[in-house]
Amino acid sequence: MTRKNDTTRLRKKPVKLEEENDRVGKKKAKESPMSIYTLGVILSLIGAGIFLFLRMRAQESVKTPLNAPRVIKERSSSMPLAPHDAERFWGTYRSQLYFGMRTKYPTSPLFGLMWFDQFVGQGMPAVRHWCNQGDRLPRYGWLAHDGVNFGSQEIVDHRYIMMTDFVKRQGGSHGGDWTARFSLRPVPGQEKTVMSLLFYSVLQGQGKLTPEIVKNRLVAIHGSTEDLGSFTLRFPKSASNVKKTNFLTTYSPVVDQLKEVMMSRMLLENYEKGSKQSYIALGGHRMPPDFDGEPNFVVHQVTVSLPFEMEVVFESGSFKDRPNSLSGDTLTSELSKYHSHFDGKFENVFQLGKKNFGGHEVLLAKAALSNMVGGIGYWYGQSLVQSKYNEKPVEYWPAPLYSAVPSRSFFPRGFLWDEGFHNLLISKWDPEISKEIIGHWLDLMNQEGWIPREQILGDEARAKVPAEFVVQKNENANPPTLFLPLKLLIADLIKSEKAKDHDYLQAVFPRLKTWFNWFNVTQTGPIPFTYRWRGRDSETKRELNPKTLTSGLDDYPRASHPTDDEYHVDLRCWMAFAAGILADIAKSLGEPHEEYKATYDILTNNDLLDKLHWDPVTERYADYGLHSNKVKLEKPKPPKNIKQGQTPPSPQHLEKVRVTKVEPKNQFVDSFGYVSLFPFLLQIIEPTSPKLGKILTDLRNEKMLWTNHGLRSLAKIAPLYNKYNTEHDGPYWRGPIWININFLAVRALNYYSTNEGPYKDQARSIYVDLRKNLIDNVLKEYKRTGFIWEQYDDATGHGKGSHPFTGWSALVVAIMAEEY
Ligand SMILES: *[C@@H]1O[C@H](CO)[C@@H](O)[C@H](O)[C@H]1NC(C)=O
Repeated sequence: MTRKNDTTRLRKKPVKLEEENDRVGKKKAKESPMSIYTLGVILSLIGAGIFLFLRMRAQESVKTPLNAPRVIKERSSSMPLAPHDAERFWGTYRSQLYFGMRTKYPTSPLFGLMWFDQFVGQGMPAVRHWCNQGDRLPRYGWLAHDGVNFGSQEIVDHRYIMMTDFVKRQGGSHGGDWTARFSLRPVPGQEKTVMSLLFYSVLQGQGKLTPEIVKNRLVAIHGSTEDLGSFTLRFPKSASNVKKTNFLTTYSPVVDQLKEVMMSRMLLENYEKGSKQSYIALGGHRMPPDFDGEPNFVVHQVTVSLPFEMEVVFESGSFKDRPNSLSGDTLTSELSKYHSHFDGKFENVFQLGKKNFGGHEVLLAKAALSNMVGGIGYWYGQSLVQSKYNEKPVEYWPAPLYSAVPSRSFFPRGFLWDEGFHNLLISKWDPEISKEIIGHWLDLMNQEGWIPREQILGDEARAKVPAEFVVQKNENANPPTLFLPLKLLIADLIKSEKAKDHDYLQAVFPRLKTWFNWFNVTQTGPIPFTYRWRGRDSETKRELNPKTLTSGLDDYPRASHPTDDEYHVDLRCWMAFAAGILADIAKSLGEPHEEYKATYDILTNNDLLDKLHWDPVTERYADYGLHSNKVKLEKPKPPKNIKQGQTPPSPQHLEKVRVTKVEPKNQFVDSFGYVSLFPFLLQIIEPTSPKLGKILTDLRNEKMLWTNHGLRSLAKIAPLYNKYNTEHDGPYWRGPIWININFLAVRALNYYSTNEGPYKDQARSIYVDLRKNLIDNVLKEYKRTGFIWEQYDDATGHGKGSHPFTGWSALVVAIMAEEY
């Protein structure tokens, strides 16, 4: 609505100016015809100028950063790293790789691992590099990862099991050293396997790499870059089972096709003297033809039999007083030191041993947490964004993002609403990491107060996303879930005596206020204190129920016919929740908090909530809008007036379209499921409200939301339960069990079972059952499939969708620990 006003203002202002010009002009007419003319020209030029200026400003605003101090200060390359920055400077921040290292510097050199089997099949080898569901690996993921110093990952390939371990060591002024160790053992029956491991370094523009080659073996890469100063990457000789070593030095113009560039420089070489068998080898010095620059992409290849172990040792040039090399026995003992520290800290934070969880369960929990923490990435780049003032998408400013990811294989980038859930867990493990992640996200806010919800930064990230999903529109929100971890963090920040923590609060507060205000102004509904998700398509004919991607719950059924008159109960609850936390922060900072408190009071007022969103017929909380339950996807009838000689299109070739059998009317949307639960999930219903009793009874009902594996997203009795949204678009939030919402449910049940009210005992008993069902099923599926999944089937409990999905599904750890 505000947007509409903005346009009219923009359109009108210049016109008004022109009218005034005329009036001024006429008055002067009698005096001098010449000056009237001149003045007229000047004034209309000014008018046109103002018009252009305002239009340009409107076009610019979508890509203009908020004018407020950043939470995460930008570091120039000449600045030495502050100690706390140095700690997390290096990391496994290339989330989508099976194993890769980089720094948190925009143009950091990239390091990574690839591998493939020799002597299997013909043609190109299946090179592993980016996590890929198509590789069909039986299992992989971090088993331990502390987010700072160390990690240990197990990758189960078809013929062997590989551990990728790394440890860092601080020293010097560029983030210190690290060593990675890759150890492989064959799976039974595959002892004869011969495979190649490849470890590379590539520059992103800046810097220099010089390979050191001794007797045709790449022994080290000497490099220097802005972020790292000088450094050496060494490839110490492995003790045994090395069959061949090869290398590649070349130039790659891009970093998102390293595998392809490398594969185009492979050769077949004779494997053993006298035999005809050949193996796939890197081609040595192979610069592109007609290119006389320096190499920027250097790869070390070892072809080995199993078992095998190799190390890659990175040493920073400014680390002068290193006591010894971080390799061999020293590395082994550092790894085991960090491993036991990890185990100790894990028990300390989550206390699963104390809660009598068995060995298997604790291993699952450690793997879930570690893969979330180990999946944290760093990106730098520009989003493509668009406002209604831009004809075409424009580039956001270049910005960094440090964030966890939903899935290393399928969604290896930042998603705004996922990130709030991720940090519910991360903040328990390491609040410093969470604060930095949240800071990065808030720094992505533009001057309007908007944060793009999907962050596709840099070439590697963009390579993973279909073009139509790249552009982010500034009308579109996404649930402000960052308030969930903030609620946990803020309690400690407020108590903290450290200047750093106080500065952090001071820096996030203006951004949170602006963010809240953006929602409160742009996402309003038709009546005061109602809210509406934008971004629904009211024109589509293919969708059974037009999607609401912005709500995070993509195809969850809303009003069947999107209009500006609808309003959504989940968004209203998110707003209530956010207002409450802002009131708390403002109060603790001694800033005016009354407006937030007042908004919070209104949005949590149960009478008003019930008036707006309680459907007295179905006795459930619901969205309101232009809706019909009687919609269906049907094959359209072929057109009737076919001219002679023409063949009518066969129905198989026509895509199904939606048919509305009963005209829609403004009413509550009958669609019981996750959205109906929000007043309960975000603890807005009072513990004494009879509506709470009704919700508890309904969610415990197997015909509705209850299953033995968790709460399903849409009730079995809901009209669109498990329905396809288009002919090809299967149900997503229309039945399957999602762990993030189940986490909120368990958390709410815990709340209502510990606060006085008539439903306390009922809440308690459901809490116990739901928690057990969720833990048992995620664990059972992990054992059965090797993975944690995006969603779980409500009939069988089977994991579905992308995997590994250790984004919010990893919240099972918090559920086990009862840490809400
Ligand atoms: C949110 O918007 C409503 C309606 O415009 C307004 O009354 C309220 O003060 C706003 N709340 C805050 C905290 O800005």
